[in-house]
Amino acid sequence: MKILDQDVEVGSAISFGGLIEKIEILRSTLRWASKLDRSEIDKLLRQANTLRDEVMQLSHKARFVKAATAEPALENLSIGARRQALLARSFLFEGAFGDNPKLLEALEIAEKAAPTDLPVLIDGESGTGKELMAKVIHANGARADKPYISVNCGAIPDNLLESELFGHKKGAFTGAVADRKGKFESAHRGTIFLDEIGELPLAGQVKLLRVLESHEIQRVGSDETMVVDARIVAATNRNLRRLSEEGKFREDLFYRLSVIHLTLPPLRQRKDEIPLLFAFFGDEAAEILKKRPLKMSPRLRTFLLNYAYPGNIRELRNIVYRLSCLSGEIADLEHLPEDIRPGLPRGATGSAATEDVPDAPVSLGDARRIASDDAERAFLERGLTEVGGTVAELARRCDMNRSHLQMLLKKHGIHSKDFRTKGASDGSQETR
Ligand SMILES: Nc1ncnc2c1ncn2[C@@H]1O[C@H](COP(=O)(O)OP(=O)(O)OP(=O)(O)O)[C@@H](O)[C@H]1O
Ligand SMILES: [Mg+2]
Repeated sequence: MKILDQDVEVGSAISFGGLIEKIEILRSTLRWASKLDRSEIDKLLRQANTLRDEVMQLSHKARFVKAATAEPALENLSIGARRQALLARSFLFEGAFGDNPKLLEALEIAEKAAPTDLPVLIDGESGTGKELMAKVIHANGARADKPYISVNCGAIPDNLLESELFGHKKGAFTGAVADRKGKFESAHRGTIFLDEIGELPLAGQVKLLRVLESHEIQRVGSDETMVVDARIVAATNRNLRRLSEEGKFREDLFYRLSVIHLTLPPLRQRKDEIPLLFAFFGDEAAEILKKRPLKMSPRLRTFLLNYAYPGNIRELRNIVYRLSCLSGEIADLEHLPEDIRPGLPRGATGSAATEDVPDAPVSLGDARRIASDDAERAFLERGLTEVGGTVAELARRCDMNRSHLQMLLKKHGIHSKDFRTKGASDGSQETR
């Protein structure tokens, strides 16, 4: 078999030896059989399928290890170049957006993990994009055109867990009025996304572990075992290592699930990305709501750049949509949700008041970045005012490359046409 000739890591040799032995058993069964009945043929076919899957898994794993070691030192590439490199390799982002080094690193790991069948565990706070990342992994893998089945382990009552995951036979319990497929069966040949895996009760963990080990399931109430081939991606906002130390999560299951372990950073650790996310979701909201792109007062912007975002990207996205929907020409503090809105000084309106900005930046680095962002933004706005919104002219005056300038304007969500004076024309199709 060609695949066995591939150079594999030394550690895989034992597994390949085991496989060759199984193939020999199959061959001699066939060689010495004078007659085979249907059930024996089915059994041999099942064994052959399992064997093929095991070989595929080993070859995927070998390829993965190779890919992981063959990459050039990524830290030498700039962020833009790394993003471009992902694009050039036809990586599907599935809407994932951002240019923070930690996010890029997560995407690069996802890219390498996607074509393998290795289990992936994604953790991170609520709203950091775990589910999105699971979809990215599925979309970039060989199973992309096969089912992607999502299960929220925290939302299934204990007594229905087994039936939900593995299905049941008619009459297996009160209410089982017909045979029913479970999520694992539905995900056969595709991906099963086990969301909130940290909420799975211990009894469910044991059953899941058994499936991971044997690749077989049994519908509740049935004696028949079925082979399932589902790639597992699990997610949690809990610390599974700590839970397993506390005896609340099986350690062996943790290791089985976390062959590839991806941690998504909270937004407060990637604050440099916030202006880009404003621009991205602002444009998205404008399109959906059929409104002009969001413009924020300076004090609202300062507030949002410093805000801690406990709900991470989901919260930022919701805030941008809310502001886009509720604000008129310019969004201000009063358009924020009440529970996060800072106290407005009596009678204060418009954009001048900045004294009620809450929360000091979390670190000196953040403070520097925010100050530098503010200065950059003020510089661009002042410059555009002076040149009547003509980007080409501002680029010339500042001795800057025009496309770099356009990128900066996009980053800050600044639209050059808002600064245009009557009759002025940019001479380019740039409109931001
Ligand atoms: N990098 C990103 N680029 C664009 N959108 C993102 C990104 N990360 C998250 N989002 C968006 O933020 C929202 C929350 O993401 P998602 O549901 O994947 O988070 P989660 O970590 O699974 O959250 P929870 O723990 O609450 O289930 C979604 O609308 C998603 O599309
Ligand atoms: Mg989720």
